[in-house]
Amino acid sequence: MVNIIVCGMWGISMDKPVWIQNAAQLITLKHESKGPRTKEAMSVLSIIEGGSVWIENGVIQMVGTMQQLIPYCTPRAAEAIVVDATGKIVTPGLIDSHTHIVHGGSREYEFEQRIQGKSYMDILNEGGGILATARKTRELSEEHIYNATAQRLDSFLKHGVTTIESKSGYGLELEMELKQLHIMQRLNDNHPIEIVPTFMGAHAIPERYKDNPEGYVDEIIDVMLPRVAEEGLAKFCDVFCEESVFTPAQAERILEAAKSYGMIPKIHADEMVLSHGAIVAAKVGAISAEHLLKTDDAGIQALAEAGVIACLLPAAALCLQEPPARARAMIDAGVPIAISTECNPGSSPTTSMPLVMNLACVMMRMSPAEAICAATYNAACAIGMEEKVGSIEVGKQADIVIWNVRNYQKLHYIFGVNHVNEVWKKGVRVVG
Ligand code: NIG
Repeated sequence: MVNIIVCGMWGISMDKPVWIQNAAQLITLKHESKGPRTKEAMSVLSIIEGGSVWIENGVIQMVGTMQQLIPYCTPRAAEAIVVDATGKIVTPGLIDSHTHIVHGGSREYEFEQRIQGKSYMDILNEGGGILATARKTRELSEEHIYNATAQRLDSFLKHGVTTIESKSGYGLELEMELKQLHIMQRLNDNHPIEIVPTFMGAHAIPERYKDNPEGYVDEIIDVMLPRVAEEGLAKFCDVFCEESVFTPAQAERILEAAKSYGMIPKIHADEMVLSHGAIVAAKVGAISAEHLLKTDDAGIQALAEAGVIACLLPAAALCLQEPPARARAMIDAGVPIAISTECNPGSSPTTSMPLVMNLACVMMRMSPAEAICAATYNAACAIGMEEKVGSIEVGKQADIVIWNVRNYQKLHYIFGVNHVNEVWKKGVRVVG
């Protein structure tokens, strides 16, 4: 039974040091190189058997074997919280680098329609999909959506996620986009999970602009971006570059404008058709390109050359009944990979990163080690957080998960089961 301990009173600091002892495998992900990991480097987990970590003031102070830490830590053991990780693995907190968690309502009726053969894009083009969630997000109060999102975050936390990226994009008009971004800001203050916000006004063409999409692009650039920037509400800007949504040229315009406001570009690329969003990602210097289900060799090459991280979303491919992204071809070409739930009410309503790690292995033939890198360190790179989180190293934030398995392969192998034993955020036990 997994319990959330501190939600609701987050912010109360724990001044006791923490000593995690004797992990069967302490998976540190320490590496000499800086920046997103590619090719063989994605498989380097830097495992310490019989591993131990000393944490103070929310920061990792010592990492090593029990034998290495005993001389330094034993004299202070009486003042510390001692955590026995015998027979368990210990990893960095998982990082979900692509979500749409702030939204009103749900769309199980569309799930049923898609099972019966209707396509995701047909549903959107008929005014459902993202547009249906935008109507619901407008209709429901900020408080209602705040509480529903907090419950989703609790579920992420119980599945080992300690940092999350979250997109707006169910407002499609200034005030409603701000409503979503303000909810993220409040949750960031009140929930243990750290939220990194992305402005995604360019998530769909709203009904009022269906005959004039260029007019909506102007509204995003002239009205929304300046205000979002002025309020400091978003670190990234994302665009859904897709047939009958935003063209590559529109995506480029929006992302270049976002850059001039200090926002870092991301892009939903080649999800349903080969939209050449991967090429746009390379051209604008996006930090990451998302989905990439239909990306061709030229797109993969462009991502590799520009150092764009491919954020792959196998749970969405599964739900959309589409072939998954070509992770192996991307890894061979030197594209760094992150993986994510892409939690949203349409194409991927899951909060389970461990499930996504399994899907990365069985659907995309990533190795269990690559999947861990893609869900921790490379995911941190995809949201510009790798200096703080994503590995267990001295000086980093103590975001740590203890799992009820003896080795990391088992974490992926036995799927559909929550293996979380404890979750620590900034040195505070938040699940356990
Ligand atoms: O990444 N494709 C665009 N956005 C999401 C789906 C959002 C929704 O359907 O509500 C995605 O798949």
